[in-house]
Amino acid sequence: MWQRFTQEARKIVFLATEEAGKHGESHVSTEHLLLGILRADNCLACQALRAMSADPAELRSKIEEQIGSGGSHLAEDIQLTPRAKRVIDIAYNEARRMMNDFIGSEHLLLGLVGEAEGVAARVLSAVGIDLDRARAVVTELQQATGAASPAHATANSTRKLTGRDLIGISDLDRSDIYLIFDTAKRLKTAMSPEEQRKLLTGKTLAMIFEKPSLRTRVSFEVGMTQLGGHAIYLAPSDIQLGKRESIGDAARTLDRMCDLIMARTFAHSTVVELAEYAGVPVINGLSDLEHPCQALADFFTILEKKGTLQGLKVVFVGDGNNVAHSLMLLAAKVGTNFTIACPEGYEPRAEIVAQARRDAEQTKAIIDIVRDAKQATAEADVVYTDVWASMGQEHEAEERARVFAPYQVNAELMKLAKPDAIFMHCLPAHRGSEVTDEVIDSPQSVVFDEAENRLHVQKAVMVLLAQK
Ligand code: CP
Ligand code: NVA
Repeated sequence: MWQRFTQEARKIVFLATEEAGKHGESHVSTEHLLLGILRADNCLACQALRAMSADPAELRSKIEEQIGSGGSHLAEDIQLTPRAKRVIDIAYNEARRMMNDFIGSEHLLLGLVGEAEGVAARVLSAVGIDLDRARAVVTELQQATGAASPAHATANSTRKLTGRDLIGISDLDRSDIYLIFDTAKRLKTAMSPEEQRKLLTGKTLAMIFEKPSLRTRVSFEVGMTQLGGHAIYLAPSDIQLGKRESIGDAARTLDRMCDLIMARTFAHSTVVELAEYAGVPVINGLSDLEHPCQALADFFTILEKKGTLQGLKVVFVGDGNNVAHSLMLLAAKVGTNFTIACPEGYEPRAEIVAQARRDAEQTKAIIDIVRDAKQATAEADVVYTDVWASMGQEHEAEERARVFAPYQVNAELMKLAKPDAIFMHCLPAHRGSEVTDEVIDSPQSVVFDEAENRLHVQKAVMVLLAQK
């Protein structure tokens, strides 16, 4: 059974045996395996735990809270409990899934998370670690440290975002989402500017804008500069997509010269068509249907502020628009409960709601549509709003102002949310309409952290899509 174990994984099992003995047990159980991992401080599993913001000392004390720290037993032979055996079986399966021909500390960690019932799994779950997230971090760390077996490096799932498009949230699975978050976190907090400049050296991003933008344009352009690449801004009047030439011809031309395309369009079909014709990855920088980069930055912000996404209640008060669509789809994928309060006739599109509810079957997220903003906001962890008339709907602004008046996020509404609830807005905000100054300028408001995170998350997206 042990022949495929790396030196490090064997050491962890040995340390786990010692831990079992120290705790007066004759059998090695899941908690002893986790304690063994924590003692092998530099192992890939420990690096993965730190990358997921889990503090080894805190994990150790959580385990000891459950199993006590006394007792003594001289362990002569390695005897595993049935749960620990299951951990090893899962570790083997995880290694196979990652096409690794060895069992390392990282696979043992995935085994512990995947086993789901033992003390270790419960302690890891309590600090927000689940299997998808752990897999994403481990595969990425393997790539960063060269730990994956070279023969399989190109098939490794760390590469699975390479060359793909990001048109909508449905292009991503849960592990892709956590891979983006973990990469964004490393870019934001751990990598030097010099290291970052090497990531996209010599690469060019074409940015097509059919609509105005501040955050999207600046974050993509600054992002490319920081990653050592270059971004070209193509204003509506420059290329006149579909008028001066067909969408397909523009896409095929950009494909010959650029490494990535980002497009902000009116019709969602335009960004879909660009992706059909361009071989290089196409990123949706907002269409009438979705704003996936915004939702990714928003959930990254929620994770930063709340430490977890699962089981939180995000309430969107206002129009069932592009931003609401992407937030709802993302909430369903990561297990966050999502309620939208909107007037009749302004609900999210039925196919988006249906997709979100299908995804939510896996994660048990509740996806709800209600009329009453007050009812929706009760006990919310996050209160989110967006403009009542999106770009392209300016002619409806007056009518919408009337219909949406009961949906203003003001101090009275915020009082119904949890006391530590945060307020979010994708910006630009129409102060005095969908949100009052009092709320957007309050200590609960995280709107500028959210805006800043557009930069970190999109840098992660670009690196992951464009890496060779
Ligand atoms: N939130 C957002 O996408 O902002 P811009 O429209 O300014 O890009
Ligand atoms: N729903 C808004 C978002 C702006 C970032 C719009 O489409 O105009």
